[in-house]
Amino acid sequence: MKTQRQLYYGADYNPEQWSKEVILEDMRLMKEAGVNYVSINIFGWVNLQPDESTYDFDFLDWLMDLLYENNIMIDLANGTASPPAWLVQKHPEMLPVTIHGNRLVHGSRQHYCPTSPIYRQYATDLSEAVANRYANHPGLVMWHINNEYTCHIHECYCDHCRKRFQTWLAEKYQTIAGLNDAWSTKFWSQSYGSWDEIFLPEAMPTFKNPAQQLDYRRFLSDMNLELYQLEKAAIAKYSQGIPYMTNLMGLHKYVDGFKWAPEMDVVSWNSYPNPFEKIPYPQFLANDLTRSLKKKPFLIMEQATSAVNWRQINGAKTPNQLRLWSYEALAHGADGIMFFQWRQSRGGAEKFHSAMVPHGDPHSSRIFRECAQLGNEFSQLSDIVGTRFLADVVVVFDWENWWALELDAKPSTLKYIHQLRSLYAALRALNLSVDFVHPSESLDGYPLVIAPNLYSAPEAFGKKINDYVRQGGIFLTNFFSGIVNEYDQVYLGGYPGLFRDTLGIIVEEFYPMKAATHHQIDFQGRRYDNSLWEEVIHLNGAKALATFQSGYLSDKPATTMIKIDDWNAYYVGTELSLEGLTTFLATILENHKLATHAQHFLAAPTEVSVTCRKGAGYTLVFLLNHTEQTTKVKLKAPGADLLTKETRQLVVLKPKEVAVLKYVD
Ligand code: GAL
Repeated sequence: MKTQRQLYYGADYNPEQWSKEVILEDMRLMKEAGVNYVSINIFGWVNLQPDESTYDFDFLDWLMDLLYENNIMIDLANGTASPPAWLVQKHPEMLPVTIHGNRLVHGSRQHYCPTSPIYRQYATDLSEAVANRYANHPGLVMWHINNEYTCHIHECYCDHCRKRFQTWLAEKYQTIAGLNDAWSTKFWSQSYGSWDEIFLPEAMPTFKNPAQQLDYRRFLSDMNLELYQLEKAAIAKYSQGIPYMTNLMGLHKYVDGFKWAPEMDVVSWNSYPNPFEKIPYPQFLANDLTRSLKKKPFLIMEQATSAVNWRQINGAKTPNQLRLWSYEALAHGADGIMFFQWRQSRGGAEKFHSAMVPHGDPHSSRIFRECAQLGNEFSQLSDIVGTRFLADVVVVFDWENWWALELDAKPSTLKYIHQLRSLYAALRALNLSVDFVHPSESLDGYPLVIAPNLYSAPEAFGKKINDYVRQGGIFLTNFFSGIVNEYDQVYLGGYPGLFRDTLGIIVEEFYPMKAATHHQIDFQGRRYDNSLWEEVIHLNGAKALATFQSGYLSDKPATTMIKIDDWNAYYVGTELSLEGLTTFLATILENHKLATHAQHFLAAPTEVSVTCRKGAGYTLVFLLNHTEQTTKVKLKAPGADLLTKETRQLVVLKPKEVAVLKYVD
């Protein structure tokens, strides 16, 4: 397998739009900006195959050689993301169908039904042709398969999808009785006598069967994965030793990343934080989540140099924001940072999306200057490549839980990412570094497991957590967790059925709060705001750590802890304010004397974000100032600053400034 030796730095490159003169200028500018890696041919289909019987590789041959001669590594896409007009004209049945029965047409991009046999055939033929031609090109370092599966089309209700859903269900459940049980179809007279009676969860009079909706989500993630696998297999007929990847989208709801990751050699994601947000925690946590999919470094395959063009109001990145947020990704395990796109388009839908080279003169552009600074810094940072992120705690994350939690007909409206965002903000405020884990994965080596709003989980996970706690691990979960199995059927006997014994509590009743209201809890004699959710918690071995302070629930438990010998489990029965949650987490750390990796290096706590990556014989300590103030960070020992080349024990960081210190073991 081709291995990476330097940080990848570059962009999506779409030179089909430009003349040869511009492309030759691009080579000069790329050198100036420290670009060593570009993704090409992502939307190249119609250029390569202008009609059904013609392949034309002249331009791509020239481009591949040109990039190679200029020492720019090539991430080559198979080009299947946007089917050409002639294909749509010939086979309109390959187009996706919306929930209201409209067939989407050509004229945008990614207009295909993922189960369509026609689309799959043409896409795999193209993949073979591309692989056959370029598999041995010396500039090729990565296969980029398709683009952002399910970004635009995460549902399709065509006849073929319905048939395929029925066979997918038959494979899963084997008997129709098995499906009827799993889907609780005795309720509302929904029982099926045969597979072909089953619809996709399309327009229906009222609430749709929840288990059916969940299976549809699984089905669509699986169908897109099947498509990815077919495209990959087509390339693999000709290619050896070149890694495969597709660009994921971090906290994107419709692709079950944990299921997809084993099919990729490298995981990557496209990161588009909103520049108006001071600290965009969802994107920051998506760095950790993406890394956790393969437990190894990942790539930022796309980010914007400044504004995007697809929000209502597209804020620009302010000076140094790009640099800070790029280092944030490196600090959390990225081995490369790429942009969409290299040169800002003149026409087409994305002409107002920022790029490395703007519409104006690059040499008078702040954006180009910042990009070039970053590229030149990155060329000095090869010590980062391949190093392992050091996590302090693990958070359980499950796409299937996301789907289940956000189905309708619940006690209240809960948003998984909103809840994760608050937790992550509190963890990072304490400089706790985070791995994510799927419920089926091992918890070995983590002192603290946190399962936020894990509404749905299989019985095996409840047992695993119970074993983990009995063996001395610390478990923390919160409201509306451990409620249903993977078929959305409640664990009976009192909530949260799955974790009731582990936590030593029984929740009798939920008390969702009115929208936009706050109450308070009493925790260790201090008051903290709570919102969204309250509940009646009975202690059954646990003790109350905090109590509610309003109405019927006054002085009843709000958060609990059970401690029996080495068995420690904590529960939070409400949505706490950031301050409340941070204090609660700090109490857990204190109770168990849990030391973080950052504390090995810091002489005193700091507001600056600190993370560590471990290389062979050394550790890298990343210091990132997301605050508004100049901040001093005192270290226990002097470290070698990779950016300034100085040895420093006291690091003074202006707002948005970063430092990377190297400590030899
Ligand atoms: C991504 C996509 C790119 C570009 C970018 C703009 O979703 O992969 O092709 O459209 O968004 O932000």
